[in-house]
Amino acid sequence: MTDTLDTLVSRADIESRVADLARLVDTDYRGVDELVLIGVLKGSFIFLADLARALTIPRRIEFISISSYGDRESTESGAVRLILDVRHDIEGKHVLVVEDIVDTGHTLDYLMRLLRARRPASLKACTLLRKPDRAEVDVPIDYLGFDIPDVWVVGYGLDFAERHRTLPDICAVRR
Ligand code: IMP
Ligand code: MG
Repeated sequence: MTDTLDTLVSRADIESRVADLARLVDTDYRGVDELVLIGVLKGSFIFLADLARALTIPRRIEFISISSYGDRESTESGAVRLILDVRHDIEGKHVLVVEDIVDTGHTLDYLMRLLRARRPASLKACTLLRKPDRAEVDVPIDYLGFDIPDVWVVGYGLDFAERHRTLPDICAVRR
């Protein structure tokens, strides 16, 4: 199957923005004993890998995975469920959720509520991409890479039906 791809954010722009975000996170968490980075599978795995390696503060990696009911590509219905949880208790920990993209906002909203209930010392969200035109839930984002238009994007961890996840650039796919 052939998809038509147009580069939206180049690998060079991603690299420099990830470095910016890492500097901000380093500054904000300076002096903290440990930051727990929770990557949201699968889409955030490349972003998390690059961000985590660009940081200098003490850090730990966890993963969480959620799914929308009905296995749809988006969570417009707002129905989200947890399919893989973190391996360690986050109570009293400084936690940063690392997402690939905030579309309607339902996924991140669900995750933040779920994690906040476990009483971390602090809880913030970092997302590489956001589609402001699609927002249905107002969920605060502490660190943002890029705002993008309402197009389906792939690459740098993001997929379209599991295709194009490992592309180095972020591309819009014409469906
Ligand atoms: P939300 O719950 O509507 O904010 O959707 C968030 C999730 O939908 C993201 O974590 C992605 O897994 C997926 N998603 C939304 N838009 C895109 C896209 O353009 N490309 C790839 N995945 C997307
Ligand atoms: Mg995601």
